Amino acid sequence: MKLVTSQAPIMLRVAKKEFNSQAFATLYFDYSLDFKPGQFVMVWIPGIDEKPYTISHHSETCFAITIEAKGLFSKKAVALEPGDLLGFRGPFGNGFNTIFSPNIAVVAGGCGMAPLAPLVETLEKKNNKILFIHGARSKKFILYPHRFDTLRQICTDDGSQGHKGFVTDLLEQEILTRKKTGKKPLEMVYACGPEIMMHKIFVLCESFDIPCQVSLERYMRCGFGVCGACVCGNQVVCKDGPVFDSKRLGTMDDFNKTALLKSGKPVTMDQYFSWRCQ
Ligand SMILES: Cc1cc2nc3c(=O)[nH]c(=O)nc-3n(C[C@H](O)[C@H](O)[C@H](O)COP(=O)(O)OP(=O)(O)OC[C@H]3O[C@@H](n4cnc5c(N)ncnc54)[C@H](O)[C@@H]3O)c2cc1C
Ligand code: FES
Repeated sequence: MKLVTSQAPIMLRVAKKEFNSQAFATLYFDYSLDFKPGQFVMVWIPGIDEKPYTISHHSETCFAITIEAKGLFSKKAVALEPGDLLGFRGPFGNGFNTIFSPNIAVVAGGCGMAPLAPLVETLEKKNNKILFIHGARSKKFILYPHRFDTLRQICTDDGSQGHKGFVTDLLEQEILTRKKTGKKPLEMVYACGPEIMMHKIFVLCESFDIPCQVSLERYMRCGFGVCGACVCGNQVVCKDGPVFDSKRLGTMDDFNKTALLKSGKPVTMDQYFSWRCQ
C-alpha cells in the first residue's frame, strides 16, 4: 500500500523492529512512499507529541525510521513493538540534491547517519565510489555497522574504533591530500550531525571552494511551512530545507548560533539543547 502525503496523520502498524546499536532502534512499516533521501515524516504518538524523523530506509514495499532514545517521545517510540500503531504525516522537506561523481564525500555524525544512509545507497546503486566518513561517541554508537558496501572511515570521540577525534580531521586530511597530489578536488560534501560539526564542515568547504549540502534540525510543529516554529535566519527549515546548500547557508545568520524554543523565544544552540533536557 502507498502512503499518501497528508496533513492529517495516518495510523500505521509497526511491521518490524530492529535494534541497531545500544542507543538506536529502527521501526519498519509495510507501506511505500514517494521519497527523496533527506526527506522526513512527522510522527505522532497520541497523547504524547508529534516530532519529525527522517526516512532512514526505503524500498518499493516498506519504509523505516531510526530513533535514538533521548527524551520522553523518542523513548516511547523506541519501546513500540510490532503491531503497535504510530501516526504519520508526510513525507516533507526538500531532500538532498544528488550528484553522481567519484569526487564526493558523505560525512555523518551520530544519528546524522539516518538521512545520509539512503543517499549512500542511491550512490552505491549507480556504482558511485565515495569518501564516506562516520563519527560517533564510541564504537557502541556506530549506526548500521553492516549496512553498506562502501568502506567507512570511522572516528570515535573515545578512540574505541577508528580515528580518535572528529570527522572534520579526516575530511580536511582528504582535501589537503587531493591538493598536494594533484587529484581532482571534491565536487560535493554531504553532511548531517550536530550543528557545530556541520558548521565546521561548511567553513572548511568554503575555504577550499567546495560546495556542500547539510541537513539542519529545528523544533517543528506543522512540518509544511505554516507555523514558523522552525525558522532559521531567512529560511523555513521544514519547507525550504531541511537540506541547505552552501549558497543558502551563507545567508542564514542563525546557522550554528540560535534556534527557536517551543515558545518561539530565540536562544543559543547550547540553551536550545539544554531546554530540551527538561
Ligand atoms: C528534520 C528532522 C529530522 C529528524 N530525524 C531524526 C531521526 O532520524 N532520528 C532521531 O532520533 N531524531 C531525529 N530528529 C530529532 C527528533 O525529532 C527529536 O527531536 C528527538 O528524537 C528527541 O526527541 P525527544 O522528545 O525524545 O527528546 P527531547 O525531550 O527533545 O530531548 C531529550 C534529550 O536529548 C537531547 N537532544 C534532543 N535532540 C538532540 C539532538 N538532535 N542532538 C543532541 N541532543 C539532543 C536534549 O538536549 C535532551 O538531553 C529529527 C529532527 C528534525 C528536525
Ligand atoms: S514546522 Fe511549521 S513552519 Fe516549519
